[in-house]
Amino acid sequence: MKDILAELEARREAARAGGGERRVQAQHAKGKLTARERIELLLDEGSFEEFDMFVAHRCTDFGMEKDRPAGDGVVTGWGTINGRQVYVFSQDFTVMGGSVSETHAGKICKIMDMAMQNGAPVIGINDSGGARIQEGVASLAAYGEVFQRNIEASGVVPQISLIMGPCAGGAVYSPAMTDFIFMVKDSSYMFVTGPDVVKTVTNEVVTAEELGGASTHTRKSSVADGAFENDVEALAEIRRLFDFLPLNNRQKAPVRPFFDAPDRIEPSLDTLVPDNPNQPYDMKELILKVADEGDFFEIQKDFAANIIIGFIRLEGQTVGVVANQPMVLAGCLDIDASRKAARFVRFCDAFEIPILTFVDVPGFLPGTGQEYGGVIKHGAKLLFAYGEATVPKVTVLTRKTYGGAYVVMASKHLKADFNYAWPTAEVAVMGAKGAVEILYRSELGEPEKIAARVKDYEDRFANPFVAAEKGFIDEVIMPHSTRRRVARAFAALRSKKALMPWKKHDNIPL
Ligand code: HXC
Repeated sequence: MKDILAELEARREAARAGGGERRVQAQHAKGKLTARERIELLLDEGSFEEFDMFVAHRCTDFGMEKDRPAGDGVVTGWGTINGRQVYVFSQDFTVMGGSVSETHAGKICKIMDMAMQNGAPVIGINDSGGARIQEGVASLAAYGEVFQRNIEASGVVPQISLIMGPCAGGAVYSPAMTDFIFMVKDSSYMFVTGPDVVKTVTNEVVTAEELGGASTHTRKSSVADGAFENDVEALAEIRRLFDFLPLNNRQKAPVRPFFDAPDRIEPSLDTLVPDNPNQPYDMKELILKVADEGDFFEIQKDFAANIIIGFIRLEGQTVGVVANQPMVLAGCLDIDASRKAARFVRFCDAFEIPILTFVDVPGFLPGTGQEYGGVIKHGAKLLFAYGEATVPKVTVLTRKTYGGAYVVMASKHLKADFNYAWPTAEVAVMGAKGAVEILYRSELGEPEKIAARVKDYEDRFANPFVAAEKGFIDEVIMPHSTRRRVARAFAALRSKKALMPWKKHDNIPL
């Protein structure tokens, strides 16, 4: 028995060693942790249960039968994050560059199947040279199996991808179909075709970092939802995000203990909106002052900053926040902002996370760039996403809300449950100046008359009461009591049940 146990231990040791000391050192020299070190930091101490530690590839081409490392370049299994179950795979770059063979992908598929069956999220740590070149088409087929599971798991269990090394070619499409992608600055990249192919085909000279590094994907392409300084920070922040999320689409997000009175008054909010309607203010201040303990997990903070999205808690319960940001493009909706917020609203709805919307939107951004880029279709995404969302929806209008953008931003007409307005809110078809220029075109040469018309229009519409008279606003609230009002609204909606008509699926404009 002693010998048998010793053999097991020896086999385990060999598997845990990955690609060996030299390659582990090379990994560390790049500022990267190993696959197992990453899992250790991601999960609660001692909670990791590994699957398939001894799985080895079956390839016999190119002399591969002589090198069959245990585990085949990916560490898989399950564990817990603050006591809640999660399935994990972590590609091991020290073993054949973390390349994906039939058996490597089979290990990933196994834990994805278990995650779906048992209703727990999947976190994938990507660090791989892509398809195992020696296996050829078998590797492509294996990727296809992973993709299919990403699709089936979408909306069933949360899927989070961490890119911590190379992720190139068709391989990018697995993370691309997950709910969130996070990258590590300077040590990870994602692209469909690399710098060499780009140079050959388009003659563009670009580095891997410029083409697909964290900065590119968090600022330009919006492929990634966030970027972190190093592996340790990334893993710690994923634990933080995980705590906001439910385990699956049939459970609510966890309720955390909170030490912040739900009826906390914030007198400073009474002066947040400046007297001058054209002066910006920071909407993040409102989010932080409403949230439990000022804790806000922001998503895509460096992309389309004219809209803010992320998670907070109210009375310990997760709430998804969408807010126009007057500091950037005056808070206008544009293509990027619409896409960013629409996907977030859909994530929240899929996973029963209530949505809080703060509105200060002068309209859609004008311009040929926007129209040629299809702002009609992209703006429709956000409208569609809000309208189809059946989770509790609470909306607070802080200042301007004009035109189509008024309807889009979780208005009463899109079945929002509670629509509050601050006394500073203005609900109108457009700003007073624009309206007067259209209605009184013949008087445009007479500035005094026009000024009087503008004042008249402002007196009539630059307030929330016209909308409130019609019941489009449920109540005009004091800014200082926003946290209390919003927390009470969500509490009142805890057992909300709303259904859409049966359909196979909708046809959201893509
Ligand atoms: C087999 C691979 C491999 C691969 C790397 N290795 N990629 N083995 N298949 N795809 C092995 C190397 O032989 C080496 O083995 C070890 O991993 C580390 O690789 P290095 O090149 O030494 O590392 P580095 O210099 O850091 O470069 C990393 C890299 C490079 C940029 C990722 O390895 C590379 O270009 N790999 C090929 C990438 C690629 O073209 N993949 C196919 C993409 S298409 P030793 O024994 O020396 O340690 C694709 C399609 C997916 O993925 C389709 C899905 C539908």
